[in-house]
Amino acid sequence: MKGDLVRPGVKGIVEYLPGKTPTEPGIAKLASNENPFGPSPKALEAIAREAKNLHTYPDQKSRLLRDALAKKLNLMEACIICGNGSDDLMQIIGATYLNPGDEVVIAKNTFSVYELIARIFDGRMKFVGLKDYALDLEGIAAAVTIKTKIVFLTNPNNPTGTIFGAAQFDAFMKKVPQNLLVVVDEAYAEYVESRDFPDAIKHIKEGRNVIVLRTFSKFYGLAGLRLGFALGKQELLAPMFKTKMPFNVNRLAQAGGLAALGDKAFLDKTFMNNVEGKKYLYAELDKLGLDYKKTEANFIFIDLKKSADEFFAKMRKQKVIIRPLTSFGLPQAIRVSIGTKEQNEKLISATKLCFLS
Ligand SMILES: Cc1ncc(COP(=O)(O)O)c(C=O)c1O
Repeated sequence: MKGDLVRPGVKGIVEYLPGKTPTEPGIAKLASNENPFGPSPKALEAIAREAKNLHTYPDQKSRLLRDALAKKLNLMEACIICGNGSDDLMQIIGATYLNPGDEVVIAKNTFSVYELIARIFDGRMKFVGLKDYALDLEGIAAAVTIKTKIVFLTNPNNPTGTIFGAAQFDAFMKKVPQNLLVVVDEAYAEYVESRDFPDAIKHIKEGRNVIVLRTFSKFYGLAGLRLGFALGKQELLAPMFKTKMPFNVNRLAQAGGLAALGDKAFLDKTFMNNVEGKKYLYAELDKLGLDYKKTEANFIFIDLKKSADEFFAKMRKQKVIIRPLTSFGLPQAIRVSIGTKEQNEKLISATKLCFLS
């Protein structure tokens, strides 16, 4: 066959650059916002029990897990769909709703998978810059045109940890057209302390075209299992059940996720560790005079005002892995996950050595 087999849109895609995963012992990996306590112990037990059923296909609709989520969130089961991580759900949204040429409005310097989805489905990206390192909802609303199909909002935002508040979101929803699909990625919602965090589900109940994304990768400690879910009104999710791969959520993920939801001791410990970790890190970063953003997530954004890649290399030698934000378009900034007390202390002592040298 003559010519290029690869679709033109694929050529513009830059392969995803994950946080580094080291194998040597004694490393503090603070690059990917994972749970520093490991997986939920209840999930591990359930996964071990479920393993004996691995010769049979999983439930195509993750019914037990969706039933538990429906009770927890006070939604109908038909308003919940599960995916192989929330990344999978983003791809399902693209496959269901994006036509070639449709506009997709995305914040600049944010999580890269939204752009990836737009590119895979030949959408047209429109980027809106951050304002004081937070999502600019007014700017995003102003960028929406009749050609815009999807807007991706991240709350709390990755990599800056900021949130937009309830009144801001209500005002945004009033401004944008009724037929716009608003995807609110709440991967870090469980860590939020602010009382001003919007109830995006309220807009779903009001019948708006809102899809909320959540994940088991962060708070529940199950990033390697791959499990996420989306919430939305029935009419929006029903076509997504058709475009998803039939068995996209495996048996271990369904069983592990269900058990993790009820692992109160683990979830409480995770939340409190994050609250305490934040306090400690804010105090230490203040002492160092570093410019950081207060966070509502399990990571902190720091503007180093010098090369993040060089700082990464120095920290790596001290056995601390942080995330330089060069691939986010912020070459002088880093993101550090909040770890255990010991990991946070190691982060600070290594930062003293590497930042000041
Ligand atoms: C904002 C945001 N959304 C989604 C994800 C991916 O989640 P999952 O592991 O469920 O695919 C991440 C992971 O880093 C994230 O930061």
